[in-house]
Amino acid sequence: MQTVTLNNGVKMPIIGFGVYQIPDAEQCENAVYEALMAGYRLIDTAAGYLNEEAVGRAIKRSGVPREELFITTKLWIQDAGYESAKLAFAKSLKKLQLDYLDLYLIHQPFGDYYGAWRAMEDLYREGKIRAIGVSNFLPDRLMDLIVHNEIVPAVNQVETHPFYQQHESAEFMKEQGVQHQSWAPFAEGLGGMFGNETLVSIAAKHGKSVAQVVLRWLVQRQIVVIPKSVRKERIVENFDIFDFELDAGDLERISGLDTRETLFLSYRDPKFAKMLGTLRVEL
Ligand SMILES: NC(=O)c1ccc[n+]([C@@H]2O[C@H](COP(=O)([O-])OP(=O)(O)OC[C@H]3O[C@@H](n4cnc5c(N)ncnc54)[C@H](OP(=O)(O)O)[C@@H]3O)[C@@H](O)[C@H]2O)c1
Repeated sequence: MQTVTLNNGVKMPIIGFGVYQIPDAEQCENAVYEALMAGYRLIDTAAGYLNEEAVGRAIKRSGVPREELFITTKLWIQDAGYESAKLAFAKSLKKLQLDYLDLYLIHQPFGDYYGAWRAMEDLYREGKIRAIGVSNFLPDRLMDLIVHNEIVPAVNQVETHPFYQQHESAEFMKEQGVQHQSWAPFAEGLGGMFGNETLVSIAAKHGKSVAQVVLRWLVQRQIVVIPKSVRKERIVENFDIFDFELDAGDLERISGLDTRETLFLSYRDPKFAKMLGTLRVEL
């Protein structure tokens, strides 16, 4: 298993399995089980995905030794704050049937995430989490968090795919020692990702699929990927990216696909901050 080494020395698999938008518990449990059988060891869930229990059941059913696994979950906005983050962490751990977590992320840069970070620093020092990090933090938010706290986030998980390549953010994270992790490597299929002519022709050249080319491109940039699929054949396909290499010409052609814009929602948009900040989820 190819890994990256986080800023505290912890090794993290460079490829994992994401479970966003698999609300059906049985489908989620089966998908995670298939992923573990296919060789994935990193599972990326979140309290906000409402499927931690299904992930926990799949982990148990798989019989994979705990020390081989790298389990990530995330703290939702309404649980930001010192005391509530501690309670939310305990709840997530219970749902996952685990006694420690490999990576705990602040899901969104909204609400009292400073209080949450201090709780996470304490949980980390107590040995209950092996690494702590953030998600959806633009460079300015990330720098502010670094400057005002003791522990530098180990990971920042942000939207990254061929149509939104995040080169400046990636450079900044590298300088700060923060591991870049991609969410939505396929942009959830938006923008015609799977039929994109450039990607289709690069895939044909290597005898691979577009999905494999996209994941390979991210991995060659040392970015951790967590593709999601509920179909066994795609779960297997997405993991099979270590027997080919994109060359300089391929990389240049993929560079040309960058729109430098999100395909989802902008973290600079106050309407989005209000919408997420006022949302109440039954967690
Ligand atoms: N931190 C955050 O705010 C945040 C936000 C979004 C996502 N995430 C994380 O990132 C993970 C991945 O992102 P995502 O789930 O949003 O989207 P994604 O992985 O970019 O795309 C998933 C979509 O691609 C399809 N797909 C998967 N493999 C395929 C293949 N080989 N060929 C064709 N289609 C394929 C899936 O369909 P089928 O399932 O039908 O195969 C699904 O519709 C999430 O699951 C989650 O863990 C984090």
